[in-house]
This record gives sequence, C-alpha cells and structure tokens, in this order.
Amino acid sequence: MNFDRTSFRHHIESLRGEWERALNEHGFDAALVPAGTNSYYFADDQSPPFRPNPHFARWVPEPLTENAVLLVRPAMTPKLFFYQPEDFWYVPPTVPDWANDAFDVAVYQEAEHQIKDIVEATRSLANVAYVGPDTELASNLALTTKDVTPLVDQLDYGRSFKTAFEITNMKGATEIGVRGHLAAHRAFLSGASEFDIHMAYLDASKQTESDLPYPNIIALNEHAGTLHYQHYDRLTPKNVHSFLIDAGGKFNGYHSDITRSYSAVPGDDFDSLIQALDEKQQGLINGIGLGLSYLDLHERMHHDIAELLVAFGFVTCSAEAAFDQRLTDAFFPHGLGHLLGLQTHDVGGRLTAGQANNSKPSDRFPTLRLTRQIEANQIFTVEPGIYFIPMLIDSVKNPADIDRDRVQAFVPFGGIRIEDNVLATENGHENLTRPAFEKALAQ
Ligand code: GLY
Ligand code: MN
Ligand code: MN
Repeated sequence: MNFDRTSFRHHIESLRGEWERALNEHGFDAALVPAGTNSYYFADDQSPPFRPNPHFARWVPEPLTENAVLLVRPAMTPKLFFYQPEDFWYVPPTVPDWANDAFDVAVYQEAEHQIKDIVEATRSLANVAYVGPDTELASNLALTTKDVTPLVDQLDYGRSFKTAFEITNMKGATEIGVRGHLAAHRAFLSGASEFDIHMAYLDASKQTESDLPYPNIIALNEHAGTLHYQHYDRLTPKNVHSFLIDAGGKFNGYHSDITRSYSAVPGDDFDSLIQALDEKQQGLINGIGLGLSYLDLHERMHHDIAELLVAFGFVTCSAEAAFDQRLTDAFFPHGLGHLLGLQTHDVGGRLTAGQANNSKPSDRFPTLRLTRQIEANQIFTVEPGIYFIPMLIDSVKNPADIDRDRVQAFVPFGGIRIEDNVLATENGHENLTRPAFEKALAQ
C-alpha cells in the first residue's frame, strides 16, 4: 500500500469544493495555511519532532513540510510555497512528486524570497484567513482582523467526513498498528518487560517513536489502571497478571488508535471479564448506524458495564442502581471514543453543522470528546474500559453497594480497554480494526 495519486486528486477536488464554500460563506477571499515551524526546547538547539498543522496536512499529506505554506483561493489551483533550504546538517524537506498533480508549486531556498512572494500573492486580497499556528510569517502579512474562528469550526466539522483517500490511509495505518500489536502480544507471551514489548511493537510496525501517532501505552499489571500510562519498565514483574496495549500506526499522516487487553492466565476471572467486555463492545458496534447519537452509545455502554459489574460481583445492587448511583463512572472514567484522522483525538467532535461549540454534552459526562450524530464517512473509536483504580473507587459517594474485597482482588490487574476504529457508512458501519487482525493472523 502506498500513495494513490488518483484517489489523492479526487480528495483534493473534494477539499477545494469544501474550502471554497466555507470561504464564501464566511466572507474570506482566500486562506493561507502554514504547515508550521519547529519549536525549540527552552534555551536549547534541540526540538521535538515536527508535526504539521493538520489543516495543512489534509491538503499536503507529507510528514516533512516545515515552513511550507499553502494559499487556497476559490476557483484557483492552490499555490504551495515550499521551503527547501540547502543544508548539510539535516536532510531538508523535499516536494513529493504528487504535489504537482494538485498544486501550483514554488520552491524556495531562501525564506525571505518565500515570504516576499507570499506577501505579494496576498497583497490585493482584503480578507485572507490565516489558518495555522502563529509564526513569524503571520507578522509579515497584513492580515485581516476578521475572526477566523467560525471558518475554522466549519473546516474542523468537515474534517470528520473522510474522503476515499483518507479512508484508505486509515486502513493503512490500521495494518501498521496491527502488525505491531501481534508482535507485542507474542512478546508478552514470552515474558517480555514493558520496554521489550514496546521495542517489539516498534520493530514489527517499522515505526520509530517519533513516527507513532501517540506514545505507546504498554502496561503490565496495575499499570493498566493508569489510563495513559507512559513508562516502560525494563524488568518484567515477578508475577504477571495482565497486559494492556494501546498503540497505533500512522500512514500518510493518518492515525489508527487500537487497544487490546490480555490476561496472563487464560480462563481466569480477569480473562472472562475481558471476553465479556469484548462482547459488549462488539454488540454496541454491530448496532451502529446513521443517525444514532454518540452520546447515547456512551450511555448505553455505561448500562452494559453496569451489567458486568453485577455479573462479576463488583457491585451488590442492580445494574440500574449501579448506573443511577454513578458507580459505573468509577470503573469507566473516560469517554466511549473520539473522532480519528490526522490527529488521534481529531477535533470537531462537539461541533454542530451550525459551527458553534455545543455546550456541555451532558451534566453527567461533561468531558466527552464526541457528542455528534453518526453520519456516513465519519471515523471514530469505540473504546470501552473497566478499570480498578483505587483513587476512583475511594471517591465514590455511596460506596455501600461496592464489594470492596472483590474490587481489591482485581486491583493488581489494573484494568481493561478494548478499542476499535469504526467507519460509519451509508449502510451502517465498517469496523476497520477487527478484519485487519483477522487478515494478519491468517497470513
Ligand atoms: N490512545 C489514546 C486514546 O485511546 O484515546
Ligand atoms: Mn482512543
Ligand atoms: Mn487508544
């Protein structure tokens, strides 16, 4: 799988239409979209890996584009001002071949020439929307004072609907992640440490740490109870109970975001709980269709988890009471999922077609990243979890219905999360993750 130029051209046609409509609607003559520039650590000449402005990357899906700038004007071929200095300390960015299919490309070795040409190209335009990070470039331009927020909201809203090119890239990102997951699972079975599992993942997925869409979460035992656990212990614990891996892949800039959980002892209660949550997750995904509200799915999963808490003896009341008393919140403290794309947590999950940010999604779940209706071509994660986190169990207001001893027995396992990536289609949905595992396992 590589770069499909035909599909890319269709993607660009679609973007041009979308941006033209948005610019017209919000009264802008053009948009200037910088890729961004590297920032340095304080008082240092080292910088974190470059990540392009996602609005730019959607047009130019190439990782190394520092200081490139795109000018988008209705009814005109977008102009790409590409900065490619001569350098012998680092390999400079280079213009990919396919860029010439979509853009009018100008390459600059000198930043002053690039900026001069951008200033020249925008001089006669009254309202240029600057869509990107505030860099030195912005201070060189006579930018409009018109607020770009409604325009950017509309573009962010549109980013949730993936083109065929984007869907193909996300399938590529899934294949990469799945290769890493299978190797990581094998490493776990062979008794590897978190560090060695992490290295097995990188090796099999052929990604460096800076290629990863987000830092791998590789958690043995109670570490799985830290939602974004960020260390890699060099030693395997004496007694291994469980393994949680949340790790993805990146392909042409697009992300996958995949989590699997394993018990060290097949058939033990923790393993049964994993299987039971897996069934609930698949049951929920199987019911996904157009027009459902993602907030409703999140609430439905809380009811499913309430049933599991009862069935496995963590609570002594009914499932309804566990939901009503918010006991499920202590075991499932994060959202069911989020939009996925050029960012792992793709923006726009709370926007409506009318642009403005929604108010809080619900009193009970104010931090959900995705509250929209499900519409065709959205890609989002479905990632329920059940965790045994002492600080959350201790903070439950009415703990009388929690079986403390039973919960305590599961604290050494940390928790479970199962995360698939789902494409909403006209006919329902397509799970991008499960078939990729099946295909890789069959090879
Ligand atoms: N990997 C981060 C998340 O699942 O949201
Ligand atoms: Mn996720
Ligand atoms: Mn994840």
